[in-house]
Amino acid sequence: MAVLPVTKLGNPVLRQKTRFIEADELASPEMQSFIDDMVETMREEDGVGLAAPQVDRSLNLLVMEVAANPRYPEFPALPLTILVNVEIIGASEELVEDWEGCLSIPDIRGLVDRHQWIEIRSLDRHGNPSQLKLQDFPARIFQHEHDHLIGKIFLERMKDFASLGYSGEIAAQFRSEEAVENA
Ligand code: NI
Repeated sequence: MAVLPVTKLGNPVLRQKTRFIEADELASPEMQSFIDDMVETMREEDGVGLAAPQVDRSLNLLVMEVAANPRYPEFPALPLTILVNVEIIGASEELVEDWEGCLSIPDIRGLVDRHQWIEIRSLDRHGNPSQLKLQDFPARIFQHEHDHLIGKIFLERMKDFASLGYSGEIAAQFRSEEAVENA
């Protein structure tokens, strides 16, 4: 396994719509090893999510994981989740606003509205189809990562740039928001 370099804002790969992965391509040792590298990169970078364009591959593939942290019971653990060829099939009307950060836009935070729950269809790393309903923090991580799959970044989802700022300043101003994570 290897930690891959993370693409940063300005790299055109972050603005491309990704393509679906074919079954034989997904099963290949190269792709399986790439998925392992994505997981290792997410963990090394202390992220809660990572999408393939963030490691320079324009593929419909994302990984998410949240370790349990007793200091932040409002952010329950999310086991390692690997989603391939993702389609959104439903979403709540209710939107929830919270802070987001992105490994491709280091040190920047902003408030973003996301659907409270979202329902998706996807494949796992072995090509098995599944349907999943995510809510609250995992739903937010998913929506952030899914944006990367369609060439969007969280800045475009902000309805007001007034909250945009550097993470250190924001943590100092909003002590309760220290748990803001990168994705
Ligand atoms: Ni991101």
